Amino acid sequence: MFKIKLGILTTLVGVCSFNTQAQRKTISQRVDSVLKLMSLDEKVGQLNQYSGRNLTGPLTEQNRNVQKDIKDGLVGSMLNVHGVKDTRQIQEIAMQSRLKIPLLFSMDVVHGYRTIFPVPLGEAASWDLDIMRQTAHAAAAEAAAAGLHWTFAPMVDIARDPRWGRVMEGAGEDTYLGSKIAKARVLGFQGAKLGATDAVMACAKHFAAYGAVLAARDYAEVEMSEHELWETYLPPFKAAQDAGAATFMSAFNTLNGVPAAASNYLQRDILKGKWQYNGFVVSDWGSIDQMIKWGYVANKKDAALKAILSGCDMDMMSRSYLEHLKTLLAEKKVSIKLLDDAVKRILTKKFEMGLFDDPYRFCNEDRERSTLRNAEFLKLAREAAQKSIVLLKNQDHLLPLQTGIRQTIAVIGPLANSKRDMLGNWTGAGDADNVVTLAAGLKQKFVQSKQLIIVNGTDVKGSDTSGIQAAVDAARKADIVIMALGEGGEMSGESKSRTDLSLPGRQQQLFNAVQAVGKPVIAVIMAGRPLIFGGIANKAHAVIYGWFLGDQTGNALADVLAGDYNPSGKLPVTFPRSVGQIPISYQMYKTGHPWVAAASGYQTGYIDMPNTPQYAFGYGLSYTSFKYSDLKLDKQVITGNGSITASFTLTNTGNCNGEEVVQLYINDPIASVVQPIKKLKDFQKVALKSGESRLISFMIDKDKLAFYNQQLQWAAEPGKFKLLLGSASDDIRLQSEFELK
Ligand code: GLC
Repeated sequence: MFKIKLGILTTLVGVCSFNTQAQRKTISQRVDSVLKLMSLDEKVGQLNQYSGRNLTGPLTEQNRNVQKDIKDGLVGSMLNVHGVKDTRQIQEIAMQSRLKIPLLFSMDVVHGYRTIFPVPLGEAASWDLDIMRQTAHAAAAEAAAAGLHWTFAPMVDIARDPRWGRVMEGAGEDTYLGSKIAKARVLGFQGAKLGATDAVMACAKHFAAYGAVLAARDYAEVEMSEHELWETYLPPFKAAQDAGAATFMSAFNTLNGVPAAASNYLQRDILKGKWQYNGFVVSDWGSIDQMIKWGYVANKKDAALKAILSGCDMDMMSRSYLEHLKTLLAEKKVSIKLLDDAVKRILTKKFEMGLFDDPYRFCNEDRERSTLRNAEFLKLAREAAQKSIVLLKNQDHLLPLQTGIRQTIAVIGPLANSKRDMLGNWTGAGDADNVVTLAAGLKQKFVQSKQLIIVNGTDVKGSDTSGIQAAVDAARKADIVIMALGEGGEMSGESKSRTDLSLPGRQQQLFNAVQAVGKPVIAVIMAGRPLIFGGIANKAHAVIYGWFLGDQTGNALADVLAGDYNPSGKLPVTFPRSVGQIPISYQMYKTGHPWVAAASGYQTGYIDMPNTPQYAFGYGLSYTSFKYSDLKLDKQVITGNGSITASFTLTNTGNCNGEEVVQLYINDPIASVVQPIKKLKDFQKVALKSGESRLISFMIDKDKLAFYNQQLQWAAEPGKFKLLLGSASDDIRLQSEFELK
């Protein structure tokens, strides 16, 4: 016995030593040296993840059991334990275990930890990859300063059905934009290399195709062709892996009848096989034993078997692995080689995060104090919020408003003064008290105004209309009315699907009453998803989409309303006129009965509504205007691995500085797999001073013309193509043709 203890001690000193000799050992060698020491229980323990909300609180029966499992080396990771004090306390328990294997602490830091940035869909409207990388890095720096090692983000699910509440968490409907944003966010969260104490491990979720749940019912089944899976839903995950995503999370949904956590096709064939992924996969909350409810397995033991065999490495919250893997090994249904593979993937990340060298390296109270909500992050939050705002209508150039005049402004609506709603869902450790509301932002901005009258009028939900008269009275006294309408902050996000996307409650009635007073009305719509508000958009003089912008909501909106920031956002998702049009995206097909405006008869579409959306993907106005001219291609034909450079002149023809998101779409009129009428293949966000012109160039090569063919190969086919340059998917300004030989 003494010899064994000595052996363990010697090896542990080697493994956890701070000297250069241990550093020189490759991580793989260090992983192997730990693996050799581990009992079967300890190996299974690494695959087990618990949620630990309140784990450091009063010692309840459940807390006692969790703490005992940690001490016995039966837990690999905790989620929802955060803050230096709590993570240190729980890590100290793990250090009492036989092998002192450190825990990974994780949390859903989706759009901020303490400083809350715009919800991801809103931020995607900025089309500014650098700002999205920066906010992800800021969120990671705060999370890491709070003792966390791992965030369950970015959510990279493509979603084309805004009834699905989780559309708020992603980057919208487009695969190309979604892939670029996935990369930006992974690099933001993780930094250049894992292990810095101002970065955390990212988690690409939910693998895969969760955004295509049937009828947008959360957690429902997904039935789709492999072609659609590869063409639309997988690329953002591949982009996340290529950016180095340390982990993936499998989805709640089935894919063609198989629960994602048990999908050999997804986790082994594609992720760990074809893509050679070397990180690890965590199940979504309880989704392993949810296979029983799906009717996929009879019991937890079979669920554990299906999940581990199909490549799900860590079990979030179901205890299926803890309770059954040892038996499955004894019954030779699971090989030790397969178990060791899962354990090594997890240990490798713990080494890469430096936790074996110092389990408390993320537990620094001074860094926590100085990092959270620092001035730099607050400034970034305001900038990200500004860039996320989308100007949808500006009749008679009503906006921007003048700040220096004595005017009475009525600020009406249930979201005008709401703090909590502005954080949206997945609020991390955000504090609603920190939020600058729209009303507060306007008060600070329009200090010269004679009066700012703030009236809720109605609640977000509910049928109480008793406040509408006060709102009408305020409108009567006002020179201008700003209305803050939309959803509640928690009406989008997980398990928040809606069948009706109109403004909840009596907000439409409130708008009608106020609008009837006859003063100019600016509608600021706030939500975590596209809403349907045509009745408001048609009557308001100006419409701004404000998403949920986080801590700096009011300052950013006031900056835009006052013209201190010229809005530059573009919609990352199509806004339908009616729920009846859903699923809807700009990537529509001509079909054999192409829709022709003003024609009638046998054409694709509806007899009661045009196919066109309320607002198209890529749409957004500015206080200035931009001219696209002089498109030139440096050649007309691409051969072999060559490319074409398309150049044109962009001019700011308006009287204020501004930014334009120039979008490049490709139309492939004839292909072995029919292609949609256009696909986004590149974009640039360009800042131009008033009157300034600039030559903008795009490179088009074979890869931008490729698609998944009938054999599911990514390939471009010879033929003619159209290049479309525009300010929105439905606002093409220049086009040209070229050929691939
Ligand atoms: C939730 C979500 C997932 C999240 C996880 C942990 O159910 O589906 O996105 O990361 O559980 O909170």
